[in-house]
Amino acid sequence: MAYSEKVIDHYTNPKNVGTLDKSKKNVGTGLVGAPECGDVMRLQIEVDEESGIIKDAKFKTFGCGSAIASSSLATEWLKGKTVDEAINIDNMDIVEELNLPPVKIHCSVLAEDAIKSAINDYRVKNGLPELTEEGAKH
Ligand code: FES
Repeated sequence: MAYSEKVIDHYTNPKNVGTLDKSKKNVGTGLVGAPECGDVMRLQIEVDEESGIIKDAKFKTFGCGSAIASSSLATEWLKGKTVDEAINIDNMDIVEELNLPPVKIHCSVLAEDAIKSAINDYRVKNGLPELTEEGAKH
């Protein structure tokens, strides 16, 4: 299987690997697993409380190269977006950007689910309702 250069770059040189302090109120943590393969991804966002802009994002992925590349790309895209804009990141955008083959589409779904899960955690911590489409989409 031929992987695109972008996948290989994000895999060999992942951006934003790490951990944010999940006890902080402005940090949202998402932890999701892929039923297809058992891979697990944790993704965190840190939100600037005044502007609502995501000022930092980190991930740790125990999974395949495409999942690592998808989460690396996702954290890059998250930084600088508002939480509301981040909701609209779609796994197919990740598929397109990384040129993932069909068998690896679920790896990008994992990244989208992790983003939504992190946003939900942030919302609940800050007294906002959970996203209603969570869980229903996939
Ligand atoms: Fe399952 Fe990539 S093979 S996340």
